Amino acid sequence: MLTEVTATRYVTPLREGGSLPGIVEADDLGTYVMKFTGAGQGRKTLVAEVICGELGRRLGLRVPELVTIQLDPVIGLAEPDQEVQELLKASGGLNLGMDYLPGSLGFDPLAYEVEPAEAGKVVWFDALINNVDRSWRNPNMLIWHGDLWLIDHGATMIWHHNWPGAQTSAAKPYNASDHVLAPFGPDIAAAAAELAPRVTEELLFEVVADVPDEWLVDEPGFRTTDELRRAYVAPLLARAGSVHERITLDAPTRTKPSQAPGWLVERLAPQQASGDEQSSKGGVR
Ligand SMILES: Nc1ncnc2c1ncn2[C@@H]1O[C@H](COP(=O)(O)OP(=O)(O)O)[C@@H](O)[C@H]1O
Ligand SMILES: [Mg+2]
Repeated sequence: MLTEVTATRYVTPLREGGSLPGIVEADDLGTYVMKFTGAGQGRKTLVAEVICGELGRRLGLRVPELVTIQLDPVIGLAEPDQEVQELLKASGGLNLGMDYLPGSLGFDPLAYEVEPAEAGKVVWFDALINNVDRSWRNPNMLIWHGDLWLIDHGATMIWHHNWPGAQTSAAKPYNASDHVLAPFGPDIAAAAAELAPRVTEELLFEVVADVPDEWLVDEPGFRTTDELRRAYVAPLLARAGSVHERITLDAPTRTKPSQAPGWLVERLAPQQASGDEQSSKGGVR
């Protein structure tokens, strides 16, 4: 079970990502990055954060502590931003919190060196969980006190959006060419040798037990939350042993530009700002 705390103050929204997480203070005097059940991405994002975050931590990767946060939307009454007000109103009850790392910096592949062994572990782990959200555009990693920390596991296990195809989907290859750590020569064979044997059924059951029942109830096709928990264990277990054979890494370069904010992309390449990834690569320096 994750520790449960109660939010006492909404501090400020974080606008870098897409889901509008907020910084909140809680009754344990902790400060957390809160992900809301009422966000457009839905509660499955939070389920993925817990399963993959806790799995990563148990495999020895650095993931900030996760907690559940009780929210009474009344704490946001003084919040002037209507979007935030609505998010808080839609999120009464249990939400997810991640320990806030004060003074951390977003990972920049041009400014920080990662050893092949560590890069291999992160790429292997992302392949296991089908993480599509750790690219050089959007690294979802922080540097804190000189170490690399993994955040944002909401866009993983894509197969949980289509349960009938889950086993087939979980057998698919993982193209890591766009992965932000691809240029660091990730030692995937070493990572697989070390980590795959640790992804046991027992470990996976431990991890899925951390997901609060209320984010799992009433999933179409499942009679009980335990049945749904088992459905998460099976594809991860099946994938762990052989996923390293299905990771593709095309010759990456380290000269790819850092992600630029949307307004800058538009100013630098107005004719290309329609969201086409290929064109924005050329437009930003
Ligand atoms: N634990 C944390 N400590 C400090 N900053 C964080 C933490 N988690 C997230 N952030 C900041 O908030 C931003 C958005 O968080 P993220 O989890 O990536 O949400 P989204 O789903 O919106 O992409 C991150 O890019 C990072 O700058
Ligand atoms: Mg993010």
